[in-house]
Amino acid sequence: MSNLISLNEIHSAKIPYRTLVFRFVIKLVAITTSLCVYLLALQPSVCAQIPHCDPGKVLGVNSCSQCHNAELLVWKQTPHAQTFEALHRNPRAKEISKNLGQRSIKRGNRCIKCHYTTQQLNDDRERVIAGVSCESCHGAASDWIHLHNDYGGPTATRQAESPTHRQHRLEESLAAGMRNSRNLYLIAQSCLQCHSVPDEELVNTGTHVAGSDNFELVAWSQGTLRHNFLQSQGTVNATRPLPRIRVMYVVGQIADLEFNTRATALATEKAIFGTTVANRAATTAARLFEIEQRLHHPLLESILQTFSKAELKTNNPIQLIEIADTIQELGIEFSEKADGKTMGAIDSMLPNSQQYR
Ligand code: HEC
Ligand code: HEC
Ligand code: HEC
Ligand code: HEC
Repeated sequence: MSNLISLNEIHSAKIPYRTLVFRFVIKLVAITTSLCVYLLALQPSVCAQIPHCDPGKVLGVNSCSQCHNAELLVWKQTPHAQTFEALHRNPRAKEISKNLGQRSIKRGNRCIKCHYTTQQLNDDRERVIAGVSCESCHGAASDWIHLHNDYGGPTATRQAESPTHRQHRLEESLAAGMRNSRNLYLIAQSCLQCHSVPDEELVNTGTHVAGSDNFELVAWSQGTLRHNFLQSQGTVNATRPLPRIRVMYVVGQIADLEFNTRATALATEKAIFGTTVANRAATTAARLFEIEQRLHHPLLESILQTFSKAELKTNNPIQLIEIADTIQELGIEFSEKADGKTMGAIDSMLPNSQQYR
């Protein structure tokens, strides 16, 4: 019997979504040695899939504060900033570190890539300069900092900028590594590269949590993290308009599916990492299926079609990475093309503002 479920089956069967979750068969089988060796050989490239903020291009929060002081003040109140002072004192952190046979939390790459921002010094050494900071989410800035705010020369103003120039400016910044509002999917990927915790040993041996439970882009970005001051030149921390929130919600789900599929690709054994990330991928797929039924968007259909081929089992890196890569491409396209104004059919699925973190 096949353990796959095709999209046609899903459509025709009209089964409740809970059942659907179970029907994405999660078959985390035991390791076979040959595959394991293969996976190990593959690991470095697997881990390099989504570039973490490049320390050689990191400028640090002080290079943003001159123009984005309001954003900086909000950021300072978040766990992202505070983890810098807190993590190495946290007894759980010491325990995790010890389980992995590590001597220091702030040295070595393991904890740093998700809990801190590092900067490369002239002599090639890297130093930890902050917790999770501006560039962790928006991209290391040295190549784009001078592009992203250039309205067209020293005398040009925001008010006088043409829509074409603005579009061009945002695209150029994007090409230089910035993750900005031109493509929300890239920002969602920033979140999930950390919040999906794609590191089996860290979870199974270290006893680190296997990613954040119920991570959802709208609820997790529009509460204490929210820093939308541009419209008001730094005076009002604005809420996002509903059409933007709708797109953000769907983009968050797609990125979640991509990253949990990617994480499942790394699973060599069932517990605890493998089952957790595979279950999350299946649950997210069921949610995207519900969204697709409401929006009938062809890109969402393609995403589900792609995922329906996934065999969520251990030691299946090649297939799962290929699927995650395709979901990524489609997610970027969805983020560019989606028109939030026409997406009211999902409003009852959106978190309400009391649920914002
Ligand atoms: C010299 C002033 C200046 C500095 C320094 C600066 N910015 Fe900006 N930034 C701006 C301006 C002005 C805008 C608004 C551009 C616009 O109108 O689209 C902006 C916009 C942004 C946006 C929103 C882009 C979008 O449309 O989504 C982000 C994100 C951002 N900056 C991040 C940063 C970060 C991170 C740093 C530090 C590494 C930084 N900026 C440094 C002036 C600056
Ligand atoms: C892939 C990204 C990633 C890596 C690598 C990582 N963490 Fe975390 N860690 C997170 C995220 C995301 C959270 C927040 C989870 C949540 O939503 O509660 C977290 C939370 C924690 C917490 C608080 C939750 C708890 O279990 O009490 C501790 C302590 C911690 N991490 C320690 C470590 C240590 C020590 C290392 C290195 C050995 C490490 N982390 C490596 C992403 C990571
Ligand atoms: C470089 C890694 C990294 C990135 C990128 C990142 N986070 Fe986090 N985030 C963490 C870690 C680590 C913690 C836990 C900090 C702690 O408590 O020590 C955390 C905590 C949080 C919390 C607080 C959770 C709570 O329990 O209250 C929220 C909310 C959050 N992140 C949302 C986001 C969103 C939304 C994005 C993307 C826009 C994002 N994060 C991007 C690593 C990251
Ligand atoms: C945890 C990830 C995260 C961190 C850290 C972060 N941002 Fe953002 N930033 C976001 C998200 C998500 C948005 C909203 C994107 C959207 O709706 O287009 C955003 C939006 C912005 C905007 C545009 C807001 C507007 O009014 O339109 C600016 C400017 C900005 N960030 C600058 C910064 C600066 C400066 C820092 C550091 C002090 C920073 N961000 C830290 C995730 C982050």
